[in-house]
Amino acid sequence: MFTRLTSLPGRDLLSLAELTREEFNGLLDSALEIKEAFKRGHRPPVLAGKTLAMIFEKQSLRTRSTFDIAMYQMGGHSILLSQNYIGWGVRETIKDVAHNLERWVEGVMARTYGHATLTELAEHADVPVINGLSDLFHPCQLLADYLTIKEVFGTLEGLKITFVGDGNNVCNTHIEAAAHAKTELAIACPEGFEPDAKVLAQARACGASVTIMRDPRAAVRGADVLYTDVWISMGQEEEAERRRLAFAGYTITPEWFSDLSPQGIFMHDLPAHYGEECVEEAVYHQRSRVFEQAENRLHAQKAVLYQLLGG
Ligand code: CP
Ligand code: NVA
Repeated sequence: MFTRLTSLPGRDLLSLAELTREEFNGLLDSALEIKEAFKRGHRPPVLAGKTLAMIFEKQSLRTRSTFDIAMYQMGGHSILLSQNYIGWGVRETIKDVAHNLERWVEGVMARTYGHATLTELAEHADVPVINGLSDLFHPCQLLADYLTIKEVFGTLEGLKITFVGDGNNVCNTHIEAAAHAKTELAIACPEGFEPDAKVLAQARACGASVTIMRDPRAAVRGADVLYTDVWISMGQEEEAERRRLAFAGYTITPEWFSDLSPQGIFMHDLPAHYGEECVEEAVYHQRSRVFEQAENRLHAQKAVLYQLLGG
């Protein structure tokens, strides 16, 4: 068995703001405990007999694979339901889907376009609902990322994190993570591509240190972490040309890395659109921790599943 966070069983995870600072840090500690145990070969079947339903309205490699593998490695099982299979909101209501699933499974992970779809699912399902990415947030990604940052630097508080790019779901979640971890977040984005104003205001009200900048090269100076994500998120394909023009000058190359702090690292949640937010050499550079992030999706989500579905 692993250390149990007593406030989490049965809870949803739709955004990091729903967690207290202690729960956020507790999930990172739990991920590390579970990661180390599994690496040592200690693999107790803590989710034996439990099933996770995974619903995808959008494509996925990492989220789909790591939730599936996490359930399997902890003795449980997952079922994959794409929007093509279930046709929620078309074939039947989200409410009806929720009241069916809760009779069969111990948890639901969903990747949706609208965040409201997730909140509706969570409102009706009597089992934990986990956000596997919505247009507003990507909490599981940032748990894995902060686990990675903590492993590299040994601490989080006071680290300078610079996000260069679109104020999208990943950027919004960075803001929430910064509020919990007391990191100093700088966001460099073109005018009109800022993060969600409400998310920013709420995080600042909780003491988050977040600065919005227009000059990406200036934002990178002295940063411990340089983080980027695609300019054209899933569902924004029709805006592709307008976005490519707006983000001119935002393509990260390894040359930028000399402006980082001496131990500074490069991160990207993937998939990457090479030639847009970064070049391929950045992802494969020795400063890059991109594939550690991808690995840590597995470990962080094991902690989420253990704490929410366990008990
Ligand atoms: N980073 C991430 O969520 O990857 P997928 O879209 O492949 O799941
Ligand atoms: N912002 C990206 C993240 C993909 C993991 C998107 O929503 O497509």
